[in-house]
Amino acid sequence: MDKQSTEALVNLAARRSIILPAFAPYGELGGFYDYGPIGLRVRNNIENAWRAQFIEGMGNVEIDTTIIGPEIVFEASGHLGNFKDPITVCSKCKTSYRVDKLLEEFFMKKGDKKAAEKAAKLAKIPEFEDMLKDNHIKCEKCGNMLHKVETFNLMLNTKVGPMGGTQGYLRPETAQGIFIDFKNIFRNLGLKLPIGIGQVGKAFRNEISPRRLLIRMREFSQMELEYFFDPEESKLVINNEEVSDKFLKEKVNFITGEQQRANTGMDFEQITLEKGIKEGYIPNKLFAYLMYEAKHFMLNIGFDEKSFRFRQQLTDELPHYSKGNIDVEARHDEGFEELIGIAYRTDFDLKNHEKFSKSDMSIVNGEKKLVPHVVEISFGLDRLFWVLLSNSIHKDKTREWDLLLLNDRIAPYRYAVYPLQKDEKLIEKAMELNKKLNKDGIPTFFSVTGSIGKRYAKSDETGIPNAITVDYQTIEDGTVTVRHASDSKQERLKESEIA
Ligand code: GAP
Repeated sequence: MDKQSTEALVNLAARRSIILPAFAPYGELGGFYDYGPIGLRVRNNIENAWRAQFIEGMGNVEIDTTIIGPEIVFEASGHLGNFKDPITVCSKCKTSYRVDKLLEEFFMKKGDKKAAEKAAKLAKIPEFEDMLKDNHIKCEKCGNMLHKVETFNLMLNTKVGPMGGTQGYLRPETAQGIFIDFKNIFRNLGLKLPIGIGQVGKAFRNEISPRRLLIRMREFSQMELEYFFDPEESKLVINNEEVSDKFLKEKVNFITGEQQRANTGMDFEQITLEKGIKEGYIPNKLFAYLMYEAKHFMLNIGFDEKSFRFRQQLTDELPHYSKGNIDVEARHDEGFEELIGIAYRTDFDLKNHEKFSKSDMSIVNGEKKLVPHVVEISFGLDRLFWVLLSNSIHKDKTREWDLLLLNDRIAPYRYAVYPLQKDEKLIEKAMELNKKLNKDGIPTFFSVTGSIGKRYAKSDETGIPNAITVDYQTIEDGTVTVRHASDSKQERLKESEIA
């Protein structure tokens, strides 16, 4: 079984309408994608796995806050001042490029991984300009030399209300609504620290050059959890229970800031979370615990342990709100892609909202009045979806089509149900079985269209692990064939054995 390239996934996604460029008949607006029926079911399953683990599993709560906010909220959060990327605009044809990504992709194409990693870590405008000049980087559209670099704010704005209205912005992360509502929810629900408040929803960024489908979008979904805690409390309590230090023995694939600066080309080494804290890579125990949960989430949804790592962000890369960031990155194309960001946001956000809104953001936890600190774990849902699919697309020698091998938790349907051929008796029998499975809460994909071979190809390519075929023997003895996508082997089972 060979793993297929992202290019094969792009073709498969188009062929089976897993994702679609938004507004396609009108031409493309970069960075906007729709999900088709299969894609949405897979995305929902990832979201549900997140909810089961990070909300229900940890005794946390979930909220839903607005997408548009007034200007002052994003002044307080620092996004209006700091949320910028380096841009270069071609002086001839006016095409714009995000410079760090342009350089990274330029070196990756040349097979120079070290230079690509160096480019990804640049932070200062003159450094970018020198790299463009030294490598004679040209506009991809017209071939003109690119040289001048500036910064560009990624906030998307809108006007709220008639006659010009007031200035509003589309949120660039779901987190701010959580910070703003925190005190109210904590007090009115009688919560105790530490407590996580989560949110799943859309975020918007006016990306300079949206690229690589769901990797860099302008409208995308996040699943974020803000974990509020007392920084002076050494005991770690999750879901009302003290967590034993055993989890600190967990090994994770890790690359430190120093190892990246040394630019040796290594992917990662295995360290324990305990060592990560001792050496100062991991800011605190709660942070380490969220890394532990993140690792198990990645395994749960189907990533292979060797396919992802934790990367300590370099000081220059740290977002304006952070006192320490570690990303979860998974193998994608030739390198690693950031899927999850874990950040020690301290009391930065609550304190800034306190300052700008002039409302007290402190809470009373037991006897103590404090403004809590926050560790955030932020998941990019679309990237998780896309990179999981790119790690799951395979080809075997016996089949002409691709295979999407997803685990039962994430697969869009557990079973496809196919009558062997277009015969009323078989269709009726298959429909009866299909209805029974649906009634029992088993989701199925029912299809009569095309030859049985073509339908097997369809379920293999859409990540459905099992296909049930109803044939003439089914009518006689109530047995069906169940074909497994992983190895295309078939077995004969009684209808009642299907669960
Ligand atoms: N609240 C923190 C925050 O937003 P981030 O690292 O900027 O942190 C979190 O974003 C996650 O959101 C990333 O790890 C990534 O998976 C996803 N993400 C960020 N920008 C994205 C984009 N333009 N398109 C798709 N996903 C994106």
